[in-house]
Amino acid sequence: MIGEKTRSELMEIAGRYPQARSGLLPMLHLVQSVEGQVTSEGIELCAEILDISAAEVSGVATFYTMYKRRPVGDYHVGVCTNTLCAIMGGDLIFERLKEHLDIGNDETTPVSPGGGAGKTVTLEHIECNAACDYAPVMMVNWEFMDNQTPQSATQLVDDLRAGKEVTSTRGPRICTWREAERVLAGYPDDRADEGPSAGHASLVGLKIAREQQWTAPPVEASGPTEGDMAAEQAVEQADTARAESETKVQEGTEGDK
Ligand code: FES
Repeated sequence: MIGEKTRSELMEIAGRYPQARSGLLPMLHLVQSVEGQVTSEGIELCAEILDISAAEVSGVATFYTMYKRRPVGDYHVGVCTNTLCAIMGGDLIFERLKEHLDIGNDETTPVSPGGGAGKTVTLEHIECNAACDYAPVMMVNWEFMDNQTPQSATQLVDDLRAGKEVTSTRGPRICTWREAERVLAGYPDDRADEGPSAGHASLVGLKIAREQQWTAPPVEASGPTEGDMAAEQAVEQADTARAESETKVQEGTEGDK
């Protein structure tokens, strides 16, 4: 059930954009932060606020894979099984986790019998995270867990389920999926600056460039050339001249009346 607070936050998000419907993506993240998925109620409410059809909202919610139409657990665990990660061990990690958690792709571990403190995990194989230099890569709530092995992966999900504090290898302490969804809706949790922003593997190219004294070409080289600027100026002058002559013609016509 979506309450008044969420309704007013959804309206606040829509109000951030010159075209309110541009706010739909963060609005759907906010719905997920409250409902644990994109619900029919959330779709109807977004449609009402943005004055568009529920079918249009639904079209967006079913197109992007970060929007879930089934409930997600306390943590979303993604395993990259795209080509590089797959051959570096991603396929093995995914198989090991399915076996270890006793669930399949896009499924969630059951709540602890008797409603214990154990946390739930949703497992999904995901596409390339643009982190191939750390393959095989996993993500928890879209935070990187680099250079994984089947052993480290099972330890990771065990720690998450036990409620232990887990930190991304290149980012902040891991919050719950719903909390992460609220951040994606545009409500920061002040963890953005936690952890290293870049790791060794990403900086190797920079290190080599410095050793070799390679530098980037001057900015002017990639900007507009003198020829481009002259052409632009000529177009501007032509526009001005045309506008002036049109004004004169119009004035003349009005004078004849
Ligand atoms: S293939 Fe896994 S991050 Fe690129």
